[in-house]
Amino acid sequence: MLTQPEDYYDADTFARIKAFADKQETPCLVVDKQLFARQLDSLIRCFPYAKTYYAVKANPAPELLAILQQRGCNFDVASRYELDKVLALGVSGDRVSFGNTIKKAADIRYFFDKGVTLFASDSEADLRNIARAAPGARVFIRILTEGAQTADWPLSRKFGCQTDMALDLCILARDLGLVPYGISFHVGSQQREIGVWDSAIAKVKWIFERLEEEDGIKLQMINLGGGFPANYISRTNELETYAEEITRYLREDFGDEFPEVILEPGRSLAANAGVLVSEVVLISRKTRFGLHRWVYTDIGKFGGFIETMDEAIKYPLYVEKKGEAEECVIAGPTCDSADILYENYKYELPLNLAMGDRMYWFSTGAYTTTYSAVEFNGFPPLQSFCI
Ligand SMILES: Cc1ncc(COP(=O)(O)O)c(C=O)c1O
Repeated sequence: MLTQPEDYYDADTFARIKAFADKQETPCLVVDKQLFARQLDSLIRCFPYAKTYYAVKANPAPELLAILQQRGCNFDVASRYELDKVLALGVSGDRVSFGNTIKKAADIRYFFDKGVTLFASDSEADLRNIARAAPGARVFIRILTEGAQTADWPLSRKFGCQTDMALDLCILARDLGLVPYGISFHVGSQQREIGVWDSAIAKVKWIFERLEEEDGIKLQMINLGGGFPANYISRTNELETYAEEITRYLREDFGDEFPEVILEPGRSLAANAGVLVSEVVLISRKTRFGLHRWVYTDIGKFGGFIETMDEAIKYPLYVEKKGEAEECVIAGPTCDSADILYENYKYELPLNLAMGDRMYWFSTGAYTTTYSAVEFNGFPPLQSFCI
């Protein structure tokens, strides 16, 4: 079945995006600010008790950061470069958390000097750096969680620590003069199994209780991370369902008196708001009677589609031509054989698709511009417009 715009966008919105995109050279990403704002408003509606810390890495376009700022949101920042972008909008440091557990002491100091007092950590060495460079700061400890198998883009193995170590780190934080403020986790990006939040929240509850009972440390915050869904080819539950279930898990563990709850959404806010437009560069077959056409387009892994690695994220793809379709291999434009987007998962494209035709990749507003290489094979970074 060929993808249809109405499965992903209402008619006016798609017409608006397409009309703008069709005047641009390809490849380019067009992000619709209204769609982004709508996603944000629905997240805020679904989690009225939570504070939003937008994961800037998903899409740091100043127009999007400004929408978040106007809504009073906060920012989860991964580097001093992202911090500079956020501060440039006039956001104060107390609305930022340094969410990266891997950081240099000099960068911790940079954040602290700019007024940031909330830091993620998952190791003793990092905690000691924070205590030296940001004395008295609030820290939250990131724990490992299950869920890698059911997330399209898993995150947990590189970050986080076991619960026992989280206890030790909270105690160490207190002893170093920091404020052991809370516990965070990330169940994996584009997480399809809502139940993984249940076991993660239960772990957090256990840590809260142990620290209070045995060490007199009262944690104040739980950071539920990202992982909320975008609309790709394989559908997920609606955000409302995620919110209802996660709220139920929180109630089960914490009763009606929740601690401060933080969310760090990236993909779920930015992805659906973006349409990436590329052009067919070449269509070929590898043998005279080859069953599959190879469709080469001017967007590839290095131009912003890194998340097609292992075909993890399957973006909905629309072309205007209609008629009989055939399965294709889709590859990018560079001289690197890793630059094949989809070979196992076969997209169907019309037989009359021709070189020069445009391809509209839906739900591409997150993790595309930021992943785009600056000059691989000489190609410039992905152009992006907010409308
Ligand atoms: C620390 C942290 N928080 C939040 C996010 C955003 O997650 P998502 O895009 O799944 O919403 C990420 C993504 O990498 C992250 O590393």
